[in-house]
Amino acid sequence: MLRRLHTEQPDSFAFTPENQAWAEAQITKYPEGRQASAIIPLLWRAQEQEGWLTKPAIETVADMLGMAYIRALEVATFYFMFQLQPVGSVAHIQVCGTTSCMICGAEDLIGVCREKIAANSHQLSKDGKFSWEEVECLGACANAPMAQIGKDYYEDLTAVRLAEIIDALAAGQVPTPGPQNGRYAAEPASGLSSLTAHEKGRDTLNASARLATDIGDTVKRIDGTEVPLLAPWGKQSSAGLPKEAARPKPANAAKKPVAVKKASGEKPAAKPRKAKPKASE
Ligand code: FES
Repeated sequence: MLRRLHTEQPDSFAFTPENQAWAEAQITKYPEGRQASAIIPLLWRAQEQEGWLTKPAIETVADMLGMAYIRALEVATFYFMFQLQPVGSVAHIQVCGTTSCMICGAEDLIGVCREKIAANSHQLSKDGKFSWEEVECLGACANAPMAQIGKDYYEDLTAVRLAEIIDALAAGQVPTPGPQNGRYAAEPASGLSSLTAHEKGRDTLNASARLATDIGDTVKRIDGTEVPLLAPWGKQSSAGLPKEAARPKPANAAKKPVAVKKASGEKPAAKPRKAKPKASE
């Protein structure tokens, strides 16, 4: 898929003071002459701050790293984790459309997105709250079909369950991420057949879902302020970043997942996109 900068761009970009300090600390991780290696974390922080990656943000990051704009643009346009156009103010839903998920019902999930959000990927819903796209394998194939919303995986989805999740997000609720069919993680649907000792006394949620629910707000997690900005190796960590006591604490407010219902949905076609990470930039 051709990835271009959005036709409408803001006039300028500047990191917030906290993000600026964090970004400067990231740069110190790399030896002299290798500052460009910080391109991905800095672009990511810019996207988390703004919601999407703007041209002024890409150029600002390129200036910070002493890179030609075209080099920064190459990175920003290559990885589909970088959103080059505005995304939904509440959530951008990335539906995996690769083999396992496609076999298990990804087209039904995409049908839900077309119906409830917008007819085309990267198009905002009428209320501006949601957008969606189809992405390549997100590495949760044993829990197909699945979608990433913000930083969380929603696995073992059905069309009905995805529709419920979108409705819940629209209503300001916090759906519990992880498997949506009652599975703990990626064990057989019939239950554990080995290592059964691990079943006793374990948390009700797997570690990933627990972390998300302890933070307490899946929607808020999208904006990048869900965890403290830490750079313990650099002097910026004490100079520019907030002190431990001043940082927001996890809300520890796990919300009850909505019950799983039967799947349904239409089956529109959509082409997967190719984007493989490079070893380094
Ligand atoms: S095929 Fe969907 S997560 Fe791998």
